[in-house]
Amino acid sequence: MRILAVETSCDDTAAAVLEDGRLRASVVLSQAARHRPFRGVVPELASRAHLELLLPAVARALRRAGPGRLDAVAYTRGPGLMGPLLVGKVTAQTLARLLGVPAVGVNHLEGHVLAVELEYRPRWPLVCLVASGGHTDLVLARAPGRYQVLGRTRDDAAGEAYDKVARLLGLGYPGGPEIDRLAARGNPRAVAFPRPSAPGWDFSFSGLKTAVLYHVRALPRRPRGRLLADLCASFQEAAAETLADKTLAAARRFGARDVAVGGGVAANSRLRALLAERGAAAGLRVLLPSRALCTDNAAMIGRAAWRRLRAGPPPRAGRADPALPLRSWAPLSSI
Ligand code: KG4
Ligand code: ZN
Repeated sequence: MRILAVETSCDDTAAAVLEDGRLRASVVLSQAARHRPFRGVVPELASRAHLELLLPAVARALRRAGPGRLDAVAYTRGPGLMGPLLVGKVTAQTLARLLGVPAVGVNHLEGHVLAVELEYRPRWPLVCLVASGGHTDLVLARAPGRYQVLGRTRDDAAGEAYDKVARLLGLGYPGGPEIDRLAARGNPRAVAFPRPSAPGWDFSFSGLKTAVLYHVRALPRRPRGRLLADLCASFQEAAAETLADKTLAAARRFGARDVAVGGGVAANSRLRALLAERGAAAGLRVLLPSRALCTDNAAMIGRAAWRRLRAGPPPRAGRADPALPLRSWAPLSSI
């Protein structure tokens, strides 16, 4: 089964081709440079950029994958930005209609969870942390198609916290990669920022962000050099430790043997190191997809569509939904 997938939920225009669930070609055209002057994603600009970039991305993915008849076209139905989602949906449905094959709408979060399958053979149940600029969700996947969202952020997403802290430190956008880079040279114990806490399996990052803000305001001048690196390392330690510890605790509580991550923040080097170290100590296997499969991509959307099509008939086309909840679609017997 050959699937063409597109992903346009935020600011990456992506297309991929999968053959029997395995990745053949993946193209991601980043719009970061267009949004950078605004220090954040501008939805209207993102929609226009998707319109301009999506067909070229599709053409490149098809060319790289080589000849072969397509059996389905997958797209992201949500969650994400409405305009960008509509561009992906209309493009996918048009291509599918022209080819006479089904168009399959996929939940973006399910894509992040199943991305791990492109490189590993996870054992179920699996606990997956999806942390990006838009979401921080802790998901228990009992099987492909059986999901329970255990917790999510009550305020800022983890990536949003990185971006906001970077901004108040005078760094560029997106801030996550820059904080990660600077933190490597800093002392994570230089400043004792509070470990963010939220009830149950939820997360909260606004308190940590405010703590950094007050700390920076009390400084005589904008931090530079060693001091800046120490602040980045100390913030990053608090954020990464919270994410890692809650994820590993959930895995133990729900009897998962494997743990996975997805989303832009899953590219964070300290989070990856902590998960690997503490996961191994707890007897868990931590599966860390390569960074390109953690950040937004169409390969994960194709994998989720493949899981769905292999299990049954194509789902009814649903509306593009910016707040689409992650729901189970596989029968209980699949566990
Ligand atoms: O998944 P993604 O590419 O796009 C969505 O938000 O859906 O995630 C982008 C987010 C940004 O907030 C960015 O600062 C953060 O992921 N990020 C990182 C790192 N690389 C990207 N945060 C921490 N450390 C990184 N290395
Ligand atoms: Zn994402």
